[in-house]
Amino acid sequence: MKRMRRLRSSNAIRKLVQETHLNVEQLVYPVFVIEGDNIKNPVDSMPGIYQYSIDRLGEECDRMMERGVHNLLIFGIPAHKDEAGSQAYDENGITQRAIRYLKKTYPEIFVIADVCLCEYTSHGHCGLVQGERILNDETLPLLVKMSVSLAEAGADMIAPSDMMDGRVKAIRKGLDTAGFVHIPILAYSAKYASGYYSPFRDAAHSAPGFGDRRSYQMDPHNVKEALREMAADIEEGADILMVKPGLAYLDVLRAASERFDYPMAVYNVSGEYSMVKAAAGNGWIDERRIVMENMLAMRRAGADIIITYHALDVAGWMKDE
Ligand code: PBG
Ligand code: ZN
Repeated sequence: MKRMRRLRSSNAIRKLVQETHLNVEQLVYPVFVIEGDNIKNPVDSMPGIYQYSIDRLGEECDRMMERGVHNLLIFGIPAHKDEAGSQAYDENGITQRAIRYLKKTYPEIFVIADVCLCEYTSHGHCGLVQGERILNDETLPLLVKMSVSLAEAGADMIAPSDMMDGRVKAIRKGLDTAGFVHIPILAYSAKYASGYYSPFRDAAHSAPGFGDRRSYQMDPHNVKEALREMAADIEEGADILMVKPGLAYLDVLRAASERFDYPMAVYNVSGEYSMVKAAAGNGWIDERRIVMENMLAMRRAGADIIITYHALDVAGWMKDE
């Protein structure tokens, strides 16, 4: 008889044969920054997640430092929105000011800046709009301006999430021309048009005012297309590739990590977080077990980097172990 249970018989031997490990260095924590003073607004659909004004952002950073989470993905929520999302590339925009604050006060935090117009446009789309159409080529220069202005503010890495064609190439060229050859690009390459983003859209005030994002984000029916997106992003100069959402797209992550010798990131998105929190809040599941299992699932599927709203909880649990 094959005695499979031999390797499960004690904690020590189970640890010796573990195939997958999670490190706190692999976690990225998304943070929302809002215009104003003395604000810490809970996001109703995401228990434990808040929008902070810059003067209170330090509270969240202190929690990060305490837990040993050093990577932050920043999302700014501007007070003023317009058709062209002009606050996205204003040197005094909310995100630029927040990054300057972060890099000055917490130089040890690695700041990743999400690049997209949807938080900044009055219509809530990720690009410029003409009638009902989302314009591609006309949007690119704005994404470039935004990327350069975030790099000037001190961002350590640029993460375009807009899904316009050609944006990685345009941003790479813009960064290089502005002297930011050393700033890497984390491309949201396989970003699906997903129902799992709705809590984020409450948190970031970025729901589209009309229509949906299916003319630019990917169709959930497709996997091969995700691989083509990634190949294109590599050609265009991406340094790290991403699959988003995470748990419902682990097959895509596995296929991508087998195909490409590039670091792979996964975004364990807002809806995935909210579902766990809702079930845990009702006492229906053991939050800690479920979250740790989800983290392992993403690591097993090939993620090197996990962007997750659970990051601080995970880091805390890893500390008590
Ligand atoms: C901006 C952006 C979104 C997310 C990350 N960057 C929202 C969207 O595309 O609508 C979603 C993150 C989440 O749900 O946690 N384009
Ligand atoms: Zn967007």
